[in-house]
Amino acid sequence: MRLSESIRSNLGKLSNVKVLRKYAGKPFLASNEWLWNHLPSSITTARLMRPYGDFLHMLVKVRSERGQYYGTYFFRNRPELELIRALANRRPNGATLRIAVLACSNGAEVYSILWTIRSVRPDLKVVVHAMDISKDILEIAKEGRYSLKSPELVDSPIFERLTDDEMRAMFDREGDQVRIKAWIKEGISWQVADARDPEITNYLGCHDIVVANKFLFHMTPPDAEKCLRNIEHLVNPGGYLFVSGVDLDIRTKVVLDLGWNPIQDLLEEMHNGDSLVRRDWPWKYWGLEPFTKKMSDWNVRYASVFQLNPENYQSN
Ligand SMILES: C[S@@+](CC[C@H](N)C(=O)[O-])C[C@H]1O[C@@H](n2cnc3c(N)ncnc32)[C@H](O)[C@@H]1O
Repeated sequence: MRLSESIRSNLGKLSNVKVLRKYAGKPFLASNEWLWNHLPSSITTARLMRPYGDFLHMLVKVRSERGQYYGTYFFRNRPELELIRALANRRPNGATLRIAVLACSNGAEVYSILWTIRSVRPDLKVVVHAMDISKDILEIAKEGRYSLKSPELVDSPIFERLTDDEMRAMFDREGDQVRIKAWIKEGISWQVADARDPEITNYLGCHDIVVANKFLFHMTPPDAEKCLRNIEHLVNPGGYLFVSGVDLDIRTKVVLDLGWNPIQDLLEEMHNGDSLVRRDWPWKYWGLEPFTKKMSDWNVRYASVFQLNPENYQSN
């Protein structure tokens, strides 16, 4: 075991120490945050600082109250959309592609995926199941109409990552609002559901691509692990699971236990593809640690796309 991994494994054990959770409190973290933010980035990103960052992030995680957020963006992670496009491009002419988008919030992720596929492969029949646990946010997603001034229920600037050309290609403008174009919107079933529900496959079915992004890290670690194992059942043999925004130790454990195949294409680009969650490390529990090839398991730990049971895959 390398030194960095041995430190990481000991941090995992430390996080269970009650005394540390109680006494490594606010003043300690606040002073360290001040120090961290006043150091030049050449120092905070230095290799030798990584164990210190990991230690602080472990403290932040054990001390944080978790809660759900609706925050999302159109085109949130471009390398991820690029991989989805490449997978769609492998499909024969006129084929059906079944996609599930879990925890879809206001629909920005769903429409970004559909735009990406349909603008290059209009021949494909793309069938999408989009679901979220919140009825209120799902209503907004289904409507596909957004205020340009202050998007309803979501406090993130959802259009920030779109170019003007992409705005024009995806939306019709109606005063201070924009509406998703009809050709992007068709073929979607919207469902209020809980991704932890063991019966979920009974009503959502199985899919060639399942996207489960940025909601598992808001659950407690045991809930997140259970939910991730449950999501596996929604993926067809040989299908792909996109899962980011989850504790990396939990994802790595589940991936190894269930024998998922980590996809190496665009792995580093996707890891770094959402600059905000990267920037929030180590100070927010959802912050994403820096990519490094110094870990012996980096190609599993930092993968966010997996192929499941390819041995059972039957090409159609
Ligand atoms: C931060 S948003 C993520 C939106 C989108 N997936 C993305 O990556 O931009 C988290 C969403 O997860 C939903 N959510 C939370 N727990 C869920 C659950 N158990 N099942 C389904 N959706 C859930 C919330 O309602 C919220 O809309």
